[in-house]
Amino acid sequence: MYILETKNLKKSFGGVHALNDLSISFAKGKLTGIIGPNGSGKTTLVNVLTGMQAITGGAVVVGGKSLHAIRPEELPRLGITRTFQDVRLFEQMTVGDNIMVVLTARGPYAALTERSERKREERVKEVLEKVGLWEKRHQLAYNLSYGQRKLLEITRVLAMDADIILLDEPFAGLFKEMVKVIVHIIGELKAAGKTVLLIEHNMDLIRELSDHVIVMDAGGLLAEGKPDAVLARHDVIEAYLGE
Ligand SMILES: Nc1ncnc2c1ncn2[C@@H]1O[C@H](COP(=O)(O)OP(=O)(O)OP(=O)(O)O)[C@@H](O)[C@H]1O
Ligand SMILES: [Mg+2]
Repeated sequence: MYILETKNLKKSFGGVHALNDLSISFAKGKLTGIIGPNGSGKTTLVNVLTGMQAITGGAVVVGGKSLHAIRPEELPRLGITRTFQDVRLFEQMTVGDNIMVVLTARGPYAALTERSERKREERVKEVLEKVGLWEKRHQLAYNLSYGQRKLLEITRVLAMDADIILLDEPFAGLFKEMVKVIVHIIGELKAAGKTVLLIEHNMDLIRELSDHVIVMDAGGLLAEGKPDAVLARHDVIEAYLGE
């Protein structure tokens, strides 16, 4: 059963076809790894799925409903959330407030808002303790290390409890220990039945975490299937070596 699909999805920037007739599907409750050379359209896919960039053509189907435009304010209702390849936090807010702010937003979390400030504070504590950032709760996001910033961004996603989670290179540039922490969090998201899209260049992590792998090339679909089978394909290996 597919919770999210793209149908002949197109996104152009002038003459550049970042997404070129892309038709792919994401199974509910599974982790789909998305790989492909630099510039193959992976981040653009996430930008279009989250309404940060307008669709040029085709459609996105969320929970069976076909959409030709997605507005960012609809994301909570659609149950979609994301992280950014270039970490985006509220730099002048504390670590705690970076989590609190997403719990206070409109949408499905409104229920939490209504439930009371105390409930939200408990949720902040719960997720920060889980990832080991509770001791840092009063620090400004700006003062965290790169790895802690990546961790805080994914913690925010964890706190939001959305059904569809788009992770754009969550491991990029991280030390081994932090990679382990984030692998653990992704494991928990899987165990909670979340649908996860994971963009990643590290093939060992893709192999370890993915139920299904999609390979993009030049804005289109090059290959898809089980990780071991896909990663052994010559055309896939060539697409990477050809960079
Ligand atoms: N805002 C933009 N304006 C113009 N061109 C863009 C824009 N965003 C992306 N592109 C182009 O679209 C293509 C796809 O870029 P995208 O960032 O989606 O690739 P990617 O697969 O995420 O690459 P990477 O692995 O390096 O992150 C590239 O040719 C890129 O230069
Ligand atoms: Mg990218």
